[in-house]
Amino acid sequence: MIVPKPVHYRSRPGRFVLDRDTALAADPALAEVAAWLRGELSPVTGGELLPGRPGPGTITLGLDDLPPEAYRLTVAEDGVQIDAGGPAGVFYGAQTLRQLLPASAFRKAGTGGPLALPAVQIEDEPRFGWRGCILDVARHFMTKHDLLRFIDLMALHKLNVLHLHLTDDQGWRVEIKRYPRLTEVGSWRKESQTGWNGAMDGRPHGGYYTQDDLREIVAYAARRHVTVVPEIDLPGHTQAAIAAYPELGNLDTPLEVGTTWGIGENVLNVEDATITFFQDVLDEVLELFPSPYVCVGGDECRKDQWRASPAAQRRIGELGLRDEEELQSWFIGQFDEYLTARGRRLVGWDEILEGGLAPGAVVASWRGDLGAVTAAGSGHDVITCPNTSVYFDYRQGAGEDEPIPFGTVLTLEDVYAFDPVPSALRDSPAASRVLGSQCGIWTELIDSNRRVDYMAFPRVAAFAETVWSPAERDLTDFRTRLAAHLPRLDAIGVEYRHESGPLPWQTRPGVPGRPEDPAQWQAKIDAWTSNLRRP
Ligand code: ACM
Repeated sequence: MIVPKPVHYRSRPGRFVLDRDTALAADPALAEVAAWLRGELSPVTGGELLPGRPGPGTITLGLDDLPPEAYRLTVAEDGVQIDAGGPAGVFYGAQTLRQLLPASAFRKAGTGGPLALPAVQIEDEPRFGWRGCILDVARHFMTKHDLLRFIDLMALHKLNVLHLHLTDDQGWRVEIKRYPRLTEVGSWRKESQTGWNGAMDGRPHGGYYTQDDLREIVAYAARRHVTVVPEIDLPGHTQAAIAAYPELGNLDTPLEVGTTWGIGENVLNVEDATITFFQDVLDEVLELFPSPYVCVGGDECRKDQWRASPAAQRRIGELGLRDEEELQSWFIGQFDEYLTARGRRLVGWDEILEGGLAPGAVVASWRGDLGAVTAAGSGHDVITCPNTSVYFDYRQGAGEDEPIPFGTVLTLEDVYAFDPVPSALRDSPAASRVLGSQCGIWTELIDSNRRVDYMAFPRVAAFAETVWSPAERDLTDFRTRLAAHLPRLDAIGVEYRHESGPLPWQTRPGVPGRPEDPAQWQAKIDAWTSNLRRP
């Protein structure tokens, strides 16, 4: 009853009882995983597992000649053995071990142990190396405490990339010592729009992570084998930064931090000083986030202000560019060079393809699959995150009481049917360019952690299976395992969506949304991506 489903699972006769006498033995290279597992299992045994040597009555963690994320888990009457290619694999084996226990093992105290594990033999490894989730903490801030909890929930589902959307029109959430106004001014807004195009709520909203907070978040995630990929969205989605430092924008009139939703027209100017400003910002971001990948956005950059700006037009002329799309590519290219020189790789949304792609860039393809097909076909690595399959701000059912009808209906079954490799790439060598996928929790309409729980779960469980488990999947089998998984989420305290629909307090009557049918969406995506060419 493991989620995501392991590659090979064989039941054996017998069971292993976890109690106060159980010991834990670990290779010294696995000390961190061992410490984490001790912490997780202590409510079950009523104390920390005893230090031990491999042998009867012991949980033994070891290294073997396997790929780094692969593991082998054997539970027998006389002991438990997890062997893996590296600490990450042992961590995933340990996550599976926890799921062999009753759901009460996921409580922090009072489980009433001892608890038994059924004897099994499991061999497992992920299908993709990039198993991610985009979390938008810019539109609505998530407290550090809730973010750490979310990382634990990702790790439970064997997801390993947290793409943290830290900046947008409506908020700047990362402390930058050199430019304090980014958070003094940019981290809060005076009010927010209720729903999509609804009334203003008249309530200030904000928050940011200090650099110490971010170091803690990154270290906490690393211990759970989750890489935090920071996103500083450029050159669009920057109104909060422009509100703090008006010289970054194209207008003489001051701006406020954004309070409404949609694709804003306020974008960065293309002055050298603006590029230097954001490279200074990234200097601090790179210090905080050791991730080999750094996202600089590139999505939804409206070009109206560049068309009207003599300075932007002069830049196009000086550089011999054709148009504003190429100007955007040049702009992103400055950051590709900057990141490459520092040993990092740029990730950008598929709009970065539109005026020519920076050589080292990884494309996060969100508007259907054309961006992924185009980028992979021209030799670029891609991450697939098509809005119509994995955007979890879209509603989970067609019912009237579903909170805020937005986007298309994206059910649990729809998510389960997602394949990270677009069909157009399936039989092509370019399929190897798909690093994996990430689901998106965009928070314009998700204004609290309780609503994140509702929108994310259990769809995250279905998504996890698309990126971890073998491509051949069985929905009925998933449903059976999900029925065993939901009590784990209950024990943790996750307010997921029940299959029957929202509970009364999960509805949001009267809050406006923007429902779209799939055909409308497809037409929109086709129009948006009409300037991408299939290779
Ligand atoms: C996006 O959804 N604008 C990446």
